[in-house]
Amino acid sequence: MTARRKIRFGIIGLGLMGREFASAAARWCHLLDLDVEPEIVAICNRSPGKFDWFQRNFDTIRLATSDYRELLADEMVDAVYAAVPHNLHEEVYVATLQAGKHLLGEKPFGIDLAANDAIMDAVRAHPELLVRCSSEFPYYPGAYKIYRFIREGRFGRIIEVHAGLWHSSDLNPDKPINWKRMIEVNGEYGCMGDLGMHVVHLPFRVGWQPKNVRALLSKIITERPDGQGHRVPCRTWDNATLACEVQTADQQFPMFLSTKRIAPGEANTWFIRVLGTRFSAEFSTKYPRTLRTLAYTPGGDQSWQVTDIGYEPPYRTITGPIFEFGFTDAMLQMMAAFCDELSRGPNGPFPCATPEEAALSHRLFTAALASQRTEQVVQLA
Ligand SMILES: NC(=O)c1ccc[n+]([C@@H]2O[C@H](COP(=O)([O-])OP(=O)(O)OC[C@H]3O[C@@H](n4cnc5c(N)ncnc54)[C@H](O)[C@@H]3O)[C@@H](O)[C@H]2O)c1
Repeated sequence: MTARRKIRFGIIGLGLMGREFASAAARWCHLLDLDVEPEIVAICNRSPGKFDWFQRNFDTIRLATSDYRELLADEMVDAVYAAVPHNLHEEVYVATLQAGKHLLGEKPFGIDLAANDAIMDAVRAHPELLVRCSSEFPYYPGAYKIYRFIREGRFGRIIEVHAGLWHSSDLNPDKPINWKRMIEVNGEYGCMGDLGMHVVHLPFRVGWQPKNVRALLSKIITERPDGQGHRVPCRTWDNATLACEVQTADQQFPMFLSTKRIAPGEANTWFIRVLGTRFSAEFSTKYPRTLRTLAYTPGGDQSWQVTDIGYEPPYRTITGPIFEFGFTDAMLQMMAAFCDELSRGPNGPFPCATPEEAALSHRLFTAALASQRTEQVVQLA
């Protein structure tokens, strides 16, 4: 058996997602068929307090620094996973590409459209580098199945599409503010910047691009504790519902996209529901094993069918097909897609979100802000 080629990763930003990335790398033995594997060789975080967990668990780490430029200057680093607050995306992503490193960057790929434009300039200046945007939910077996149904043209004429990502912990008015609720760090998009790329990834991948948008955005909790005994303004949008008109080569239909920080009872619920004249299908991470479908022939019954789908993600693993799939599995699959594309090119089962898909999401969210401001339908440029 030949050894897998190693891709030496540096991680910039060692918070919630930095750890998920490293943990998935440590579980690479789950994956079958790949000829590459990640190795974490360098880590960077503004405050060194985060180093300990990584250094205890990864003896491959040879550099730990609080200066990301030091990590980028290190020749042993082939690729970077960057998971820093949104106001740093432009600076860190552009510097990563200028340093000649492949990049898996976290969404939204820039705090706003101007930052995303600057990142896209750097992407175009470095066609030799693989640049992808993190988005893991389409790797759930149920989501991936719906993707394949769409590709197979099963739905007939599309009636409408609903997709969303909903959270609820912000329903608690006493939850202290963090950077994700601060406009200057998270961005004016608010919940759209935070959650939106996850929602649009699959629709954009199948060519469902919005022609226009009417947005309904809401700020529900307008003040939060600052953790030091005071309450401070919380100015980011909590919830967003975007009603879009999709125009494809042969179809036009409504698509409703929602990103919510305050959806009572929901904790990281990602869903997609596609209704068509011949076939309909629905999947939600709330019921990760359940796929609902409805096949229709004219005059026939209209019955939703519920199928327990097993562990059948895009990349084969050692996990038995009877077991459930979860968030950490989706991270592993997304990283497999990134490493596979680096090794064998873009012909894998479901390549990671592209910078162009992220750029389109910026055009959508920017148009959504304008729609909210003007109370009008806004055409996408
Ligand atoms: N893919 C997903 O499902 C998912 C989920 C949550 C967050 N995210 C995205 O991941 C990114 C990070 O979010 P998070 O939840 O991990 O945040 P976090 O606050 O948990 O972690 C961010 C880390 O970056 C560090 N940092 C800040 N400035 C830095 C600098 N100049 N140099 C190096 N490190 C610095 C912080 O100290 C912190 O440890 C964001 O873009 C966010 O939108 C993605």
